Amino acid sequence: MSDPQLLQREIARRKTFAIISHPDAGKTTLTEKLLLYGGAIQLAGAVKAKRARAHAVSDYLEMERERGISIQSSVLQFPYKGRLLSLVDTPGHADFSEDTYRALMATDAAIMLLDSAKGVEAQTKKLFRVCKLRSMPIFSFVNKMDRPGRDPFELIGEVEEVLGIGVYPITWPITVRGQFKGVYHRLLRQVFLFQQVAHGAEMAPMQAHDLYAPELEQAVEEEGVKQLREDVELLDAAGDALDTGKLARGEVTPMFFGSALTNFGLPQLLDSFVEMMPQPAPRASDKGAITPDDERFTAFVFKIQANMDRAHRDRIAFVRVCSGQYERGMKVRHVRLDRDIRLTNPVQFLAQERTVVDDGFAGDIIGVFDPGIFLIGDTLTDGANVKYAPLPQFPPEHFGRVVMVDPMKRKQLKKGLEQLAQEGSVQLFRPPEGREGESILGAVGELQFDVVKHRLLNEYGADVRIERLSWNIARWVEGEPVPLAELESQLYGYGALDVHGQPVVLFKGDWQLETCAKAFPKTRFVELGAGA
Ligand code: G4P
Repeated sequence: MSDPQLLQREIARRKTFAIISHPDAGKTTLTEKLLLYGGAIQLAGAVKAKRARAHAVSDYLEMERERGISIQSSVLQFPYKGRLLSLVDTPGHADFSEDTYRALMATDAAIMLLDSAKGVEAQTKKLFRVCKLRSMPIFSFVNKMDRPGRDPFELIGEVEEVLGIGVYPITWPITVRGQFKGVYHRLLRQVFLFQQVAHGAEMAPMQAHDLYAPELEQAVEEEGVKQLREDVELLDAAGDALDTGKLARGEVTPMFFGSALTNFGLPQLLDSFVEMMPQPAPRASDKGAITPDDERFTAFVFKIQANMDRAHRDRIAFVRVCSGQYERGMKVRHVRLDRDIRLTNPVQFLAQERTVVDDGFAGDIIGVFDPGIFLIGDTLTDGANVKYAPLPQFPPEHFGRVVMVDPMKRKQLKKGLEQLAQEGSVQLFRPPEGREGESILGAVGELQFDVVKHRLLNEYGADVRIERLSWNIARWVEGEPVPLAELESQLYGYGALDVHGQPVVLFKGDWQLETCAKAFPKTRFVELGAGA
């Protein structure tokens, strides 16, 4: 049994989060700067992780192979002012996939990164929706303030309107004649002015001033100070205090302004984030909600990374610790298999290195060697017979029909498809009557198809083509059933069953979804599948 006080202390120290953003908003830059400010690296720019990022599938697969089990980029743990931060990567660009969404199931908060000139972009919206489903606390950082961008008031309006979340600006940008000088911190009631350092490679020196101090006018110019004071009055007049309950439920987002490139405004974001990020919420299980300070060890698998190497079927399962304490060498119960296992060399991802885990607490993410026994969503415990709620299936937006190149490999194909779907690499749909051979794949990101094709050939010996289909929406059927097999002939969409046998309808666009919903008013067409 763990010491309850030790548990409380360790949980309070841990902050597990993701950065959600649209490609190019500055996630790579911000990640590196978090490491810089956390003291995990000395000089930003030394790690050019982005440079290694590949877009072509062959490069991607090659990269997976090379990385093998060293997957530092998936989870990055680093200290910050006595806290232990774990940043779970949400891959963007070509590697956007269901893994991206699932990463958000393993985190307790998100930093939403916006480009000050572009505001709320498409991928941000999608990722935000997944955070919203979990009522997760979201902190917003408006980046690239060193460049001409949109008016901050306008940006707040856009976030509120487009995402339907309240905004509470904690810092406010100070820009004088196009030059970004620093931020005003509304809770500390202080102005922070920054000095630029070459390439933003080191922490930017800053001075703090009182908003009404006369020396501020020399530092910023009268015109800038006047504007700032007016803005602050306007903000103060408009708002109440930040409602921490609403923050914890993801109903209001604290907003910060700055530049990941020049480091201006970053310490204010980080300090507030570690102070204000609420404790992890209890997590739903089949025996009721489990709180992080529950003394029983519980954890679940949220990602499985397969090594593409044919000779070594090594896989790493990413496990999120939800309660209790993991100790080195401990036996854990694999609840689905109803069997005790010993986790082989579980690793943590401290800054840039992997280290073997000695102990783990709620909030930690550990990587364990998977000899093929884990599925996404599996629960591990110290013996307790509880199961976490399954991870949802996320709405795919790309669909393809699997066409066999070599019909002799029908059996291998069937097995391969089922396993890959179980593993969560792709979603598999079949027509309700079970017409043989008709397998439809659904993916959140297009690259998933290439990965599946590659793995079917290499791991199962089944050569396939994937013909793209024109649907782009999937909705799970709840409430009154619909005649799945007849939908297509009535142009209401394509009825199918998912890998768990749940009814799904695939649509060619919003118009078709709306038509179908009108025709079946007692049926709900929901965005998330219930999982296994
Ligand atoms: P991503 O991971 O979200 O895709 O974005 P990334 O950090 O790679 O940043 C995308 C581009 O935006 C990079 O420029 C980066 O330098 C720039 N950037 C990031 N943060 C800021 C900021 O605060 N201010 C300004 N002005 N630019 C920023 P690039 O030209 O594509 O690459 P690079 O040659 O600068 O590395």
